[in-house]
Amino acid sequence: MSENFLLSVHGYPLDRRMWGPLAARLEGDRICRVAAPDLRGRGTSRRPAADVHAMSLFADDLAADLPSLVPGDAPFLLCGLSMGGYVSLEFLRRHGARLRNRLKGLVLCDTKATADDDTGRAKRKEAIEAIRRTGIDAALEAMAPKLLSPRSKGTPAEALVREMILGTPPATAMADLAGLALRSDAFDVLGVFDRPVLVVCGEDDAITPITDAEAMAAACPNAPFVRLFTVPRAGHMAPLENPGEVASAIADLAKRI
Ligand code: MLT
Repeated sequence: MSENFLLSVHGYPLDRRMWGPLAARLEGDRICRVAAPDLRGRGTSRRPAADVHAMSLFADDLAADLPSLVPGDAPFLLCGLSMGGYVSLEFLRRHGARLRNRLKGLVLCDTKATADDDTGRAKRKEAIEAIRRTGIDAALEAMAPKLLSPRSKGTPAEALVREMILGTPPATAMADLAGLALRSDAFDVLGVFDRPVLVVCGEDDAITPITDAEAMAAACPNAPFVRLFTVPRAGHMAPLENPGEVASAIADLAKRI
């Protein structure tokens, strides 16, 4: 198997299990190995939740844990879905220069480079209050209908999304939301990135639609290769809903590094 790794960062309010079907394809086809950590405050993470999960905090956790995720000097592609994409861009901003020899490319899945506007920040506040009042069911109610394509109804992907949301501790979800509201625009990071980039977006993504993906793909003038791939039969969780198509696109990227 190639010694390339895909360091994959999950979205909100999810966990590392969202990468399972994609990892099975990539590792089964010997394209790359997948390292998918749980961000702090959930799942297998040994770090407790903080009050606010700034994207910079997650990015620094990832950098500190890198030796146990991607061993030695192994090269890796950085991959993030939605909140994981925001974390990946912050990781590049803070740690990209130091890891320049190992970091071979970027995969941005169903995410965007813009910060929240005032309306978005107000909605995060409401979402925090709803979780405080009624627990994680509030996140399930708010997120579950938007995360998947209508075509994914009744699939194992739908069941897993539900399980991941309900498994997220309420304090973790609230800290995530507070951090998401604080994040900054990351187009400057894309502007200087000079490795191959794959931007992936489910055709039915209702949270970060194709216009967000187009804006990111257009913002990488120094990347030697940029591909925008619209994933058929998928919504915001494209790597989970259609892992075969996403794995093929990553295989194509891996050939270019
Ligand atoms: C996610 O899937 O990580 C979230 O939808 C991101 C966001 O709400 O901005």
